[in-house]
Amino acid sequence: MPQSCRSMDPIVTAVMVALVASPAHAVSPEEAFTAGCGGCHASDAKILRKIPDGSEAVRRAWILNFMAGHPNERDAVKAEIVEYLVAKSATSKSWWQFW
Ligand code: HEC
Repeated sequence: MPQSCRSMDPIVTAVMVALVASPAHAVSPEEAFTAGCGGCHASDAKILRKIPDGSEAVRRAWILNFMAGHPNERDAVKAEIVEYLVAKSATSKSWWQFW
């Protein structure tokens, strides 16, 4: 019965459209970082090292406070940049970063 198979198409299509469309209206955190900070910071390593250890709230507060007095070439995506740094500073503190 081909009709029952075809009935899935709208759902599959909707999911695919959603996946493909999402980057178009929302800049990814990586893109936001590159746009706002990448002009002066080729890498985020130095920045991530500077962010203190602590809970998400502590890191977010530090990042917001720091960025308030620091250049940002793309202020429109500041929220995404903050998310990027909060997320990456949670996982990036590997032993090798202290050397
Ligand atoms: C106009 C250039 C410029 C832009 C844009 C810029 N920075 Fe910086 N940033 C610097 C300079 C210069 C320093 C000091 C030198 C260094 O440590 O590399 C610095 C230092 C830092 C430091 C401290 C690093 C350390 O080792 O002391 C952090 C954290 C930082 N920047 C975060 C950011 C973030 C996040 C953004 C994007 C929102 C950003 N910067 C955008 C120029 C810039």
